[in-house]
Amino acid sequence: MTSSNGVKSETLRGPRLRFVESFLRDPLSVGSCWPSSSALCHAVVDPCEFQPGDTVVELGPGTGAFTELLLERMDGRGRLLAMEISETNIAELRRRLPHCQTIHDSAEHLPKYLSPRRATCIISGLAWGNMLAATQDRMLAAVLKSLTPGGQFVAFAYAHATWFPTSRRFRRRLQENFARVKRTPIIWRNFPPAYVYHCWRK
Ligand SMILES: C[S@@+](CC[C@H](N)C(=O)[O-])C[C@H]1O[C@@H](n2cnc3c(N)ncnc32)[C@H](O)[C@@H]1O
Repeated sequence: MTSSNGVKSETLRGPRLRFVESFLRDPLSVGSCWPSSSALCHAVVDPCEFQPGDTVVELGPGTGAFTELLLERMDGRGRLLAMEISETNIAELRRRLPHCQTIHDSAEHLPKYLSPRRATCIISGLAWGNMLAATQDRMLAAVLKSLTPGGQFVAFAYAHATWFPTSRRFRRRLQENFARVKRTPIIWRNFPPAYVYHCWRK
C-alpha cells in the first residue's frame, strides 16, 4: 500500500518507531512522543513561498515529517539544509531522504554552517516551550543572525503549553524581534494539538 505522497505505508512505521525511541532517549529535547501530523505539516509549509536559488533551513527535522513536504514544495528550486541533534532521528532522516543535506549538530550553531550565506526561510521543529530562557535566547539569536532581511521564520507551539512561562516568553521574543507575527488557529488533528507562528524579519 502506498500513501498519497508516494511513501510506502509499511516504511512509515520505521520513522514513527524511531521517533518514539528518540523521545525515550531524550524527552525534553525531542518534546513530543509522536511526529507531526500531515495537518500540522501543511500548516507549517503551505504558506511559505519558495523562489529559485533560495536557501531554506529546517531546525529539528526529527525523522522528516516537514522535510518531505518541504522538498516536494521546493521542487528543486533551492537548497534545503536540515539540522538535527538526535542521533536516532538524523540516522532515520538520512535513510529516508538521502538527498537532503543534513547536519548533526545543535541549531544554535547554524550561522557557522551557513556563513557567509543567509537563509530566506527558517522552519523550526524545535520544542521552544521546553527550553531554558538562556537556550531560547541562543537559538533565536542564531535564527536572527541567519535570516535575510524580510526572511521568514516558522515555528510551532503545543496548545497545552500556551501559558507556560517559557512559551509566553518565546511569544514575547517573536513580537520584539520580527516585523510581523501571524498565528494560525489550533490544529486539532495533531498529537498534541498545536498552532503555528509565521514571522517576517525586520
Ligand atoms: C518536537 S520534535 C519535532 C520533530 C519534527 N520536526 C516533527 O515535527 O515531527 C523536535 C526535534 O528537534 C530536535 N532538537 C531538539 N533540540 C535541538 C537542537 N538544539 N538542535 C537541533 N535539533 C534539535 C529533536 O531531536 C527533535 O527531533
